Order: sequence, then C-alpha cells, then structure tokens
Amino acid sequence: MEVLNIKNIFFSYNEKLLLKNISLSLEEGEFLSIVGSSGCGKSTIIKLIAGIEKANSGTIECKSTGYMPQRDLLLPWRNILDNILLPMEINKKNLEEGKKKALEYLKKLKLDEYKNAFPSELSGGMKQRISFLRTLLTEGEILLLDEPFSALDMITKEQLQKWLLEILKKFKKSIIFITHDINEAIFLSDRILVCKNSPLDSFEEFKITPNIKNSPEESMELKNKILKIIKGEER
Ligand SMILES: Nc1ncnc2c1ncn2[C@@H]1O[C@H](COP(=O)(O)OP(=O)(O)OP(=O)(O)O)[C@@H](O)[C@H]1O
Ligand SMILES: [Mg+2]
Repeated sequence: MEVLNIKNIFFSYNEKLLLKNISLSLEEGEFLSIVGSSGCGKSTIIKLIAGIEKANSGTIECKSTGYMPQRDLLLPWRNILDNILLPMEINKKNLEEGKKKALEYLKKLKLDEYKNAFPSELSGGMKQRISFLRTLLTEGEILLLDEPFSALDMITKEQLQKWLLEILKKFKKSIIFITHDINEAIFLSDRILVCKNSPLDSFEEFKITPNIKNSPEESMELKNKILKIIKGEER
C-alpha cells in the first residue's frame, strides 16, 4: 500500500524553477533515501511533503508526517523533556498526556536518564537521538528525516544507524531519509533515489537488496555508480 504519492510537482523559489515535474511514491514500511548534489532540492521535497512549502502545481497525497529538520532545533534554555514536548505545546495538545507519552518513549529508547539535562550537556549523537524521538512522538506514519546524522563522527554515526534500524523494527514507520553519505544510504535503505538535472526533473532509482547490503563488493560498485551520477550533476 502506498503511504505517499507525489505527482507532477513544479516548485520555484523567487521565480527560479527548482523542481520540474517531479513524481515519487513511498510504500508502507519502506525506507527510501534521497541523495544528490548540494542545493538540488532535497530538503525542499521534504518541506513540500511536510506542508511547510507549497508547490506551484502538482499533487501530494500522503498519510500523516513527522518532520526532523536538517539542523537539530533543540532550544538551549529548555531541558530535554520540555524540548520533546515543544511540538505538543505549539499544537495545543493535552500536555499531561503528552508528558506521559514522552516519558514512556524516553524509556523505550533508553534515553530517560537525560530527561532533565539541557542540550548543552549532551553529545551531538545524543542530541540527534532526542531530536529523532521528538519526531517519533508526533506519531506521523511517515518520518521525514533530513540528514539526521550528518554532523556526527563515523563511529557515533554507525551506532545511530543501528539504533535507528532497531527502533524502526518496533515502530513500523515509513521513512524518507536525506543524506550525502552513500554508504549510509545503502546500509539503511530499501530504495535510493539519485537526483538528476537542474532544475531537478527526475531520479535514477536503485533497489537495495539484502544481497547488495551483505556484499562489500556489490555495495562498493553501487556506491561508485551513484557517486558518478552525483558528480556528473555537480554545478
Ligand atoms: N527559503 C528559500 N528562499 C529562496 N531560496 C531557497 C530557500 N530555501 C532554499 N532555497 C534554494 O533552493 C535550492 C534548493 O535548496 P534545498 O535546501 O532544497 O537543497 P538541498 O538539496 O537540500 O541541499 P543540501 O544538500 O545542501 O542540504 C538552493 O539553491 C537554495 O539556495
Ligand atoms: Mg538540504
């Protein structure tokens, strides 16, 4: 079953066309990554799905979404629990109930010892976990994750990738994931879309089978293929 269907989207910022007739879809439970050169419009696609930007034309049909922006937006003067509750406060949800749920999720994700800490006391990896938890708590069926691990060192990043897959087994979400790290995309995804042309008008699509994930040679070959496409697109 499809949880997202984008058809023939056109989008421009200040008269400059960025997305030209873009279509894509997402299956329930699927992990889809989007890769492409900087500035090609990846974040914009996610913002359109989240409803933060509006397309000039075309249609977007989708289930509820939870959006994790490119930069973590934890407020330094609020502790972790209050940061997690922020979207509920903004949306005027029942805070008592929200708090109960937030504490339950903090436990489930083994982060409850940090609930009273402030963002400045947390490592980059911890902050990203909290930011992800906040997205998960919105209960969107589709999670839109914009480079969630890009600011992390490689070891922390690999820990978080495994952590993410563990959590997704429990929560059964559908994911759109943006990254510049092709290894990360191959490790996590069921399918990868590589952005093509400027304005962006199509994707080259790769299905990631378990065979590819498990074979270093096949992964490397695919990575080089994808990099070649992206390099060809760089402006
Ligand atoms: N609010 C805005 N107003 C005007 N132009 C914008 C705005 N946001 C983004 N742009 C422009 O639109 C283009 C695409 O931006 P977008 O953030 O979608 O790129 P991206 O593919 O996510 O890049 P990156 O990989 O660097 O995050 C860029 O040229 C950017 O400068
Ligand atoms: Mg971006």
